[in-house]
Order: sequence, then C-alpha cells, then structure tokens
Amino acid sequence: MKSSDHIGIIGGGIIGISTAFYLSGLGHDNITIFEQCGIACHSSGKAGGFLARKWCDETDLRGLARASYALHMELKSEFPDLDYRCVDTFQVNTSERRSDKSDTQTPIKWVAEDHVTATKLLDTSDHTAKVSPKLLCNKLISVAKSRGVKVSISKVVDVKKSDGHVTHLLLSNDSEYVPVDILIVAAGPWTTKFIHQHFPEYQLPAPRAQTRAHSVVLRPRSSVGTECLFQYHTTTSGTVDPEIYPVADGTVYVCGEVDYVELPDNPLDIKPDSAKCDDLISQAGYAANCLSEAEVVTKQACYLPGSHDDLPIIGRVPESRNVWMATGHTFWGILNGPATGKCLAELILFGKSKTCDVAPFSPDRFL
Ligand SMILES: Cc1cc2nc3c(=O)[nH]c(=O)nc-3n(C[C@H](O)[C@H](O)[C@H](O)COP(=O)(O)OP(=O)(O)OC[C@H]3O[C@@H](n4cnc5c(N)ncnc54)[C@H](O)[C@@H]3O)c2cc1C
Ligand SMILES: *[C@@H]1O[C@H](CO)[C@@H](O)[C@H](O)[C@H]1NC(C)=O
Ligand SMILES: *[C@@H]1O[C@H](CO)[C@@H](O)[C@H](O)[C@H]1NC(C)=O
Repeated sequence: MKSSDHIGIIGGGIIGISTAFYLSGLGHDNITIFEQCGIACHSSGKAGGFLARKWCDETDLRGLARASYALHMELKSEFPDLDYRCVDTFQVNTSERRSDKSDTQTPIKWVAEDHVTATKLLDTSDHTAKVSPKLLCNKLISVAKSRGVKVSISKVVDVKKSDGHVTHLLLSNDSEYVPVDILIVAAGPWTTKFIHQHFPEYQLPAPRAQTRAHSVVLRPRSSVGTECLFQYHTTTSGTVDPEIYPVADGTVYVCGEVDYVELPDNPLDIKPDSAKCDDLISQAGYAANCLSEAEVVTKQACYLPGSHDDLPIIGRVPESRNVWMATGHTFWGILNGPATGKCLAELILFGKSKTCDVAPFSPDRFL
C-alpha cells in the first residue's frame, strides 16, 4: 500500500475508533471514519467499561486481552482524564428472602448486609479496572482527528468494486461515490448483514444469537465505593446476574437483563424495555439499598456484536483484496478494542501484527 492511500472505516464504535487511532499513530493519516449516527452512539457509548487482565486466559482471547489491558494502562498514563481507575472486583450473592442472609460481614462498606448471602473477592485492583467507554472513544477520536483523521456522519449504503477491489463507497446522503483504496468494516452487530449484502462470496456464518442487553445509570444520594460487583440475585423464580460498576462521577452503572429482539437498522431506533431496566434497579437494590432509591439518569439497551463461534473476527475478508473486518467482540469489546485496532493497523500497514497473535481470529476460519 501507499502512504497516500485513502482508508475508509465503517463504524464509529470503539473498534473503528481504535483502528483509526493506531493507524494514524503509525503515521498513516488519510483516513475517514463513516458513522451513521454519531461517535460511540451504540454499545461503545453504553457499555460498562469493566476491564480484566486475566479473565480471558482460559480462552483463545488470552493474548488479545492481555495486550489490550496493557494498552489501556498506556492510554490512561497518556490521557489522565479517562475516568480510568483500578478497582477490586467482587462477586456478591443476594437473596430476596432476608432469612437467607449470611452471618459473616461483607468487606464492601456500601453493600447492604440484610440480603447478602455471600461475598467473594474475584480479582484485585492489580488486575481489574473500570474506564468510561464514552470518554475513551471521544479522547481517541479527538487525538486521531488532530493527526488528520476525518469523521463523516453518514451511512455507507453501497460499495463499488472492480477486479476484486473495493474502489468507492456510496453514502446515504450523497449521490457521488467516495473513492477508497482500503475498506475496513467495523460496524459492530451490523457487520454480518453488511458483509452478506456486499461480499456474498464470503459465506460468513451469522452469530448464533442477536443479544440485546439493558443498562441503567443511577445517581444514588449516598456515596458508594469503587468496587465493581458481579451480583447473583436469587428470587422465587430463579437467579439473575446484574453487574454493578460505580463510576468516577458519582453515578453507578448497572447492566444485565438480556433478550433477543431483532436488531433495528439504526442504533437510534433501539428502545429499551423499561420494565427490564426497572428490574435491574430493583435487583441491584438488594446489594446496595441506595441504588433502589437513586435518581435514574439513563435507561438504555444495546446489542452485543457476535460471531458464530463467539470469538472476534479480525483480518482480511476472504476473496477480497482490500477489505478488512473487525467485529464479534461480544461483551469484551471495550477491553479488547485497543489491541484489536493496533493489530489491524499493523496487519494493514506491515502485513503482520507484533502486538498479538491474531491467527485465532482470522475470517478464513469459517471457509
Ligand atoms: C450492556 C453492555 C455492557 C457492556 N459492558 C462491557 C464492559 O464492561 N467491558 C467490555 O469490554 N465490553 C463491554 N460491552 C461490550 C462492548 O460494548 C462491545 O463489544 C463494543 O462496544 C463493540 O464495539 P464495536 O465498535 O464493534 O461496535 P458498536 O459500538 O456497535 O459500533 C458500530 C458502529 O457502526 C455503525 N454502523 C453500522 N453500520 C453502518 C453503516 N452502514 N454506515 C455507517 N455506520 C455504520 C453503528 O452506527 C455503530 O455506531 C458491553 C456491551 C453491552 C451491550
Ligand atoms: C453464589 O451464587 C452462584 C449462582 O447461584 C453460585 O454458583 C455460587 O456458588 C454462590 N456462591 C456462594 C459462595 O454461595
Ligand atoms: C453527509 O452528512 C454528513 C453529516 O451531516 C456530512 O459530514 C457529509 O459531508 C454529508 N455529505 C454530503 C455530500 O452532504
């Protein structure tokens, strides 16, 4: 490739943004991100931002996750305003029935004792952290822009091909085709459909489930600690497992309540099921009373970007010469975004990645 080549990136989520950040950091500056509704307008702005160094160690994600955890620490040193903090992480079991309550005290000061049946330290602040995904996306994009990266708020609706190369993109608000030399599809849960539509020769199997998850942002009246909590809450109808992450600005983020509703074309059309958000608030209230009485700042839902084998897909689209893809990060996309972007930048610019071994994520595995 030439240094003047125009790289078009579809998707302004953590994956597209990280890719532009590292490509431009490596000196390539002719890049445009095409994003249909806004930077981090979907999962990348609605995620929890919980990071764990070792929790993927037993899977093929080990190298990617460890490399990405290290990159997050690098980013935090470079940009101190990301609301990044190292946190202890606990499992907290609660029961609707007060009589199940444990006699041993929980070590977490802001957790209510009266419904807690067990607490267990899952990991310490040496190995788990919490970042604000939205601040991170905004920071990376502003640095990328200062290096020359452009952002176009527009939807890519068609591609023009010649000789196995994509040569142009058509935008929804434009009648002209925009020339590109390299295309990167980082369109989150919309990636599979885009590939099926425009690159049908690559028979990418669809993710097994189209998972939607709910989240709420609460502002409790009393202050909470920094610990991230993985709650198991037992009711008469079963056990649910919300995740509770205090945020540096004094709010508390709670997510869980998964369902399988068809993905709309536009992220702005995703409407959360308000009752599921209320359930989350009530469940979290069993771990910390202040959460059930807190001001509700946001109720929202977003989709996990999946893949058929639940592993990311990072690499060149088979049968194409200049099309790359990066998606399928499920519930670890904020953690694994930076290393994914850096690996992809290295693959495109140098033909191989030294940040980590991307072989397990090759799009070729589905052929
Ligand atoms: C409730 C919840 C909590 C989570 N918590 C965590 C967490 O604590 N830690 C963690 O590591 N991960 C977490 N995740 C996962 C993480 O949010 C995702 O893996 C990650 O955000 C995916 O990023 P992405 O860039 O692939 O996709 P997205 O953020 O979905 O971005 C894709 C973008 O592409 C755009 N787009 C699509 N098609 C087109 C087109 N044709 N033209 C132009 N633009 C287009 C969309 O508008 C969208 O903005 C969570 C996810 C959810 C749902
Ligand atoms: C907490 O709850 C989970 C899920 O029900 C269970 O597997 C685990 O054993 C419980 N932990 C303790 C210490 O009771
Ligand atoms: C399409 O809309 C976006 C955002 O409004 C703008 O950046 C872009 O220049 C527009 N393109 C055209 C040709 O109008």
